[in-house]
Amino acid sequence: MFTKETYISRRKKLAAEFSDGILLFLGNSEAGANYSGNDYIFRQDSSFLYFFGLDCPDLAAVMDIDSGGSIIFGDDVDMDDIIWMGPQKSVADRAAEVGVCKSYPFARLASFIKDALEKGRRVHFLPQYRNHNKILLGEMFNVSPRAVNDLASEDLIRGVVELRIIKEQCEIEQIDQACDLGYAMHMTALKLMKPGMKEQELVGAMEGVCISGGYMVSFPSILSQNGETLHNHSHHQILTPGRMCVIDAGAEIASHYCSDFTRTLPCSGKFTARQKDIYTIVSCANSYAAEIAHPGISYKEVHLAVARLMLQGLSNIGLVKGDVDEALALGVMGLFMPHGLGHNMGLDVHDMENLGENYVGYDATVTRSSQLGLGSLRMARTLKPGHVITDEPGIYFIPALIEQWKGEGKFKEFINYEALEAYYDFGGIRLEDDLLITADGCRRLGAKRLPITVEDVEKEMAE
Ligand code: GLY
Repeated sequence: MFTKETYISRRKKLAAEFSDGILLFLGNSEAGANYSGNDYIFRQDSSFLYFFGLDCPDLAAVMDIDSGGSIIFGDDVDMDDIIWMGPQKSVADRAAEVGVCKSYPFARLASFIKDALEKGRRVHFLPQYRNHNKILLGEMFNVSPRAVNDLASEDLIRGVVELRIIKEQCEIEQIDQACDLGYAMHMTALKLMKPGMKEQELVGAMEGVCISGGYMVSFPSILSQNGETLHNHSHHQILTPGRMCVIDAGAEIASHYCSDFTRTLPCSGKFTARQKDIYTIVSCANSYAAEIAHPGISYKEVHLAVARLMLQGLSNIGLVKGDVDEALALGVMGLFMPHGLGHNMGLDVHDMENLGENYVGYDATVTRSSQLGLGSLRMARTLKPGHVITDEPGIYFIPALIEQWKGEGKFKEFINYEALEAYYDFGGIRLEDDLLITADGCRRLGAKRLPITVEDVEKEMAE
């Protein structure tokens, strides 16, 4: 938890965007995994954490813009809770730690909101992703839980996004720590990797490092030799010489700040000549993004510059032909990288995407493309100091997609479909670092960068 002044200052800045009404924030509750009482690991809502800092279930908070005060709603524990969970601080004491001096039992929230609505006051709330909270709001606003998000406040979404998207120094320190833990996770996998192991063994070792040093993984680990499947969560294969393994994994530390790194490693410790060719295109693209990312350029422009570099690389080895700029403009790169260059990162690994990807990743100056790949760019905004983003170019050979485009004769003047047939068993390569935009450029987050060049990867794997 940060200092109480941090939370007071954030709430003050948010309140300044509103002339009247109530801002309602719902925390999360426990959620049963396979029966009530056998719960998923508790994860507080990130916006609740950002403004109210309290990391325990069954809380809600309001900011009353007219009176200028905040209230935390929650119930103190009873003897049964103490028997099973140990002594707990009172809600009033917890509220005081984040600069809120008023607290009420949770049951008073419904009447508080009803009263405000009856007085014709606007009650702003954020879009909900947990059914428990949708039901709660459905009851308070007298709508079906399915319709609750239709009533979410665009003004509140925009206010929250504009604050959370620019990271404060205290947050950057936490993200650096999450990246250090992410580094340790990945180095564990790199050092352990050898042919004959199961992919799942690497997942277990890597996630063990994360849980030992932090809270949990920031998303389910992606680790597979079938790296052409972008988010491959099946880890049942045996590591085989001659293949590569995509490892896309991150840590969430106790403060809930995240990291997200990807490396693609040769299972035997040595890349083949053909792997080196493609790998080098992707590693150059990753470094190029960090070279050109700075305040004033949009991340869409960075995506396009990186895509151009990779198209040129693919053209140099004969997989792409024709004019590279024309190919770029038409969207040929979507065949090889059907995802965007990166996303925002912070308290969520895809920061704030529950508030709506376009609110977070797009602003008035940038529009979303409909092309495959570029259209999936989650962060396209003009960069500002304090943005934290991922830099994750990739090249993938997805046989079903290649076959589809080939069958349609799509971009046949730019794509060497015949040469691509030799790559159907290649897999994919993605390389990802996390960047902080600074006053005059950017820096990679975390004390150390994971090995990324062919030489450094092979050297580290050999040691
Ligand atoms: N690194 C996983 C993701 O961005 O979804």
